[in-house]
Amino acid sequence: MHRKRAEGRIHALAAAIRHHDYLYYVRDSPEVSDEEYDRLFRELRELEERFPELVAPDSPTQRVAGQPLASFPAIEHAAPMLSLDSDPSEAALRRFDERVRKGLGPDAEVAYTLEPKLDGASVELIYREGRLHQASTRGDGRFGEGVTENVRTIPAAPLRLRDRPRAVPPFLAVRGEVIMRVPDFEKLNERLLGEGKEPFANPRNAAAGALRQLDPQITKARPLDLYAYDVLLADGFPATTQGEVLAALRDWGFRVDELTARAATADEIVAYHDDLERRRDDLGYEIDGIVVKLDDLAARERLGWTSHHPRWAFAFKFPPRKEVTKVLSIVTSVGRTGVVTPVALLLPIELGGVTVSRASLHNREEVARKDIREGDRVRVQRAGDVIPQVVERIEEPEREGEHERAPLWRMPAECPSCGTPLVERGPFTVCPNGFRCPAQLAGRLVHFAGRNALDIAGLGDETAKLFVSAGLVRQLPDLFGLGVEQLLPLEGFAQKSSEKLVEALARAAHAELPRFLYGLGIPEVGETVARDLARHFGAFAALRAATAERLQEVPGVGPRMAEAITAFFADPGNGAVLDALLQKVALKEGKPAAAAAVKQPLVGKKFVFTGSLARLTRRRAQELVEQLGGKATGSVSKATDYVVVGEDAGSKAEGARKLGIETLDEEAFVALLTQLGVKLEELEQSA
Ligand code: IVH
Repeated sequence: MHRKRAEGRIHALAAAIRHHDYLYYVRDSPEVSDEEYDRLFRELRELEERFPELVAPDSPTQRVAGQPLASFPAIEHAAPMLSLDSDPSEAALRRFDERVRKGLGPDAEVAYTLEPKLDGASVELIYREGRLHQASTRGDGRFGEGVTENVRTIPAAPLRLRDRPRAVPPFLAVRGEVIMRVPDFEKLNERLLGEGKEPFANPRNAAAGALRQLDPQITKARPLDLYAYDVLLADGFPATTQGEVLAALRDWGFRVDELTARAATADEIVAYHDDLERRRDDLGYEIDGIVVKLDDLAARERLGWTSHHPRWAFAFKFPPRKEVTKVLSIVTSVGRTGVVTPVALLLPIELGGVTVSRASLHNREEVARKDIREGDRVRVQRAGDVIPQVVERIEEPEREGEHERAPLWRMPAECPSCGTPLVERGPFTVCPNGFRCPAQLAGRLVHFAGRNALDIAGLGDETAKLFVSAGLVRQLPDLFGLGVEQLLPLEGFAQKSSEKLVEALARAAHAELPRFLYGLGIPEVGETVARDLARHFGAFAALRAATAERLQEVPGVGPRMAEAITAFFADPGNGAVLDALLQKVALKEGKPAAAAAVKQPLVGKKFVFTGSLARLTRRRAQELVEQLGGKATGSVSKATDYVVVGEDAGSKAEGARKLGIETLDEEAFVALLTQLGVKLEELEQSA
């Protein structure tokens, strides 16, 4: 085929595919079969392969760009992405409606748009001249993370907008929600479990996790969907109501939820809310309430915003899913850190599409306070997230007498797993046997192998339990002695999967220090602290020998944490395990690769903090400055470069002004940090 003809054909194919995308995603009425669609797609890809110079950046084939990113760029939103005022109670909804009516005056005609509140991750999409230019997560509302390449992989995210029948504004900022449909979520979790990886707790986490993958190939392998619900900013876009906004979004090619409705009264809103609540389990995607928005855009301007949310919108949430069932028995479960948690085994019930047969009772004091015994009827809830909880006991007048009910439940005196006498720590009960307790060992193995620790694919919950119960792993270091021939006899292991796991173990035997430290599960040591400790001490031996005093030289490490760390290393049982482990694992010490790559743009800069900060603790702020190479000092002098001024700042702010030193308010300070590459969620990750 000649270049000229190929060009025409490529054009026609791209236009046809876009048209079918629109029919499929927006209109929900495809006109061609999947096979026909795939055929068009294949033909386009083949032609583009033959004529690479004809590949347009927004061609339907260009949904995955090449390289993984090192980090997400910080992106300032076109307009602040505020959150919503939210409440599950009808009274609060009615108060919202009254405030709106009062604010607009007695003569105003009030109408609302009602939309399902999608439970995913919100994003801002920027289109220039109708082409997807940039996408970012919400972040702190002002700055988000640039996830453009990942959003491009979402089939429902238009790369190029349709400009008929409605012209597309040259600049358009759209807000929407990235979600994962429930069946896709379940399939993904099955796959992760099959690969021995941790499943996601709910579709929201799965969607947010997929969106925040540095490698777009991974995002692409996770089925995401996108709904648009707002235009944040547009040049010359003449809409006057939310209804028109949604219609325009649809015309441009965005998927907009079909279940939107209009209401004029609070009663109608309540009816819509209750109706959707009844149907929520049948929708195929998760919603956690409805969003009520004033329809008239000019009236919205009159009501305005608080610093957190618009006064013209309200999220009328659903209450947590609750159900009554019976406690069959109460058992205990020993966690990775030795905490013994009472768990109610329940007569199975359906809660939000999930069958629940266990619920946490937290600790022995909770059991006593709620007075829950075997045989009782209880109310169980699953609040947005995963682990169901026993909310309360249901009174049963006919069996309130002492001998009608089972005896008071008591925590066993000995560890159900290893028999060691349990000790009480506040309301919690703990098995002090550390690495030697089999129940803790399985949990510790899983943690050690986790994504953010040594990342050993194929070593999940079930496998860890199997290793411990089969006696293959008696201590953590035994893990590295496992060979294919030992795995093969185990249930669920074939030649291929055994080899894979052995390879993963061999890779993990060369571990980066921060991951290794985190994986050990030292009490109080999370990922951030592990990273800081590794950076500070450089080598494992130095850290292991450090006194509590030396430990506290690490920014973010306080007395309690220092104590926990020294106690962990001082324990002779732990010491033996560590010695054996270090025979098998070659640590990559010194500056970890990631840290070495981190620039230290604040070298030589002295910061002083005064007043209180809202977003992060002062300690964390100082720590971040130091990570970036700067110094945080206590008092203002001529040598000070910046004074960060929080709420109720005192004389230091005054002093700074006198000396002519630059002051930053919290917002400016956070903006500085994000520009220097600090990720938003790192701000609050108090060590
Ligand atoms: S409108 C200023 N509409 O709910 C108005 N938000 O707590 C901004 N959400 O972060 C939001 N469905 O992620 C709006 N139909 C919808 C929504 C929706 C879900 C999420 C959004 C936002 C959160 C607000």
